Amino acid sequence: MSGSSGGRSIFHERDGELWCEGVPLSRIADEVGTPCYVYSETAVRQRYETFSAAFAGLDSRVFYSVKANHNLALLRVIRELGAGADVVSVGELYRVQLSGFQGSDIVFGGVGKRVDELEAALSAEVLIINVESEGELRRLNDVAAAGSTRAPVAIRVNPGVEPDTHAYTQTGHYRTKFGVALEDAADLYDLAAGLEHVEPVGIDAHIGSQILTAAPYREAIFRLADLARRVLKTGVGLRYFDIGGGYGLEQHGDAEFDLATLAEPLGEVSSELGLTCLLEPGRWLVAPAGVLLATVLYTKRLGDRLYYVTDTGSNDFLRPSYYDAYHPIEPARGRSGSTVADIVGPICETGDFLGRERSIPPLREGDLIAVGYAGAYGFVMSSNYNSRPRAAEVVVRGDAFRVVRRRETLEDLVTGELLRDEQ
Ligand code: LLP
Repeated sequence: MSGSSGGRSIFHERDGELWCEGVPLSRIADEVGTPCYVYSETAVRQRYETFSAAFAGLDSRVFYSVKANHNLALLRVIRELGAGADVVSVGELYRVQLSGFQGSDIVFGGVGKRVDELEAALSAEVLIINVESEGELRRLNDVAAAGSTRAPVAIRVNPGVEPDTHAYTQTGHYRTKFGVALEDAADLYDLAAGLEHVEPVGIDAHIGSQILTAAPYREAIFRLADLARRVLKTGVGLRYFDIGGGYGLEQHGDAEFDLATLAEPLGEVSSELGLTCLLEPGRWLVAPAGVLLATVLYTKRLGDRLYYVTDTGSNDFLRPSYYDAYHPIEPARGRSGSTVADIVGPICETGDFLGRERSIPPLREGDLIAVGYAGAYGFVMSSNYNSRPRAAEVVVRGDAFRVVRRRETLEDLVTGELLRDEQ
């Protein structure tokens, strides 16, 4: 199921059933119902240890990218492991503060921060605010002045590189909205140095997501290091070199991103320029730690096409529809043989599918399936479309599990709305 390092022993088969650590997935389905996200705490710990070990020789710090999975229980585990947090909204800031992260453990990014978000970042005393435009730099200076404080900033630079990944997850070239153009960044550091209420402390980039090769990172690091050299020469006291996240997982037989190929060029920059490297992994840490459990409601044929209609779809898990992303799908309980089917959801959209034309053992009504690599960008991107309550979330540790987010109820669906006679 989760075929990458750290994942293989976590989701495994025993007695014809799929287990997460010491718990059969069917037991979770029986007790909690489906659809349900199941995360392995041990897998998150293992992924984090492997990740940190790859950068152990480097002056560096990990800031987990909270957007990948913001469940409070997982945030708590990740904080205990020693990571900081990369947040992009006041909502994510609220979550990490609830989970015990201190200001100095937080970097605050995002291309469109409102004034109240800049204020919240300042009052949380975050380590760095990543600024993505001249307008934002000036606004932050004003907000900090009003609060009689000084904002630690990094400029997010768009290095103009194009990783080989889905167009929607590229962020490092000029046909995307992110960051400041490489050729404009030095002027912005000059401006920042002259503003009284901002202190430029870092340089930042994030070139995209689900990237499998080192080449675009090397190029970005080379371009940013060049800029950092020039900025340091002007007397600006940079301390941090943040290369963002984006480290990809294996897919269709490609190997997952080789972290060593990133550690090496970062190590060179860090020792030459005396900067601490910041890493913002999201997917790499949590995707293999999670599956989405669902139940087959109906099986049907349309012409020669076989459909398995399940109780989960793009409302719970958007990635297949939105990015045409491939996620492994397996029966969670004793089925063998092979057929070809579309595994689809209940949503009234043709684009609502988990997998199309998949080879899968023949399934029957009531069968349980597990969608793999669902620990990142799964629940966080879910919605109430078609007025469907959002799924439950469960964390497994050893041979125990607990519900860390209850399934939404019908009342949850209408919370905050007014009935006609209440208006
Ligand atoms: N840092 C910044 C500034 C980011 O924008 C992101 C992701 C990350 C770090 C973490 O990237 P990761 O290591 O998880 O690839 N919804 C998409 C992914 C969007 C990622 C957005 N930014 C998906 O499901 O593939």
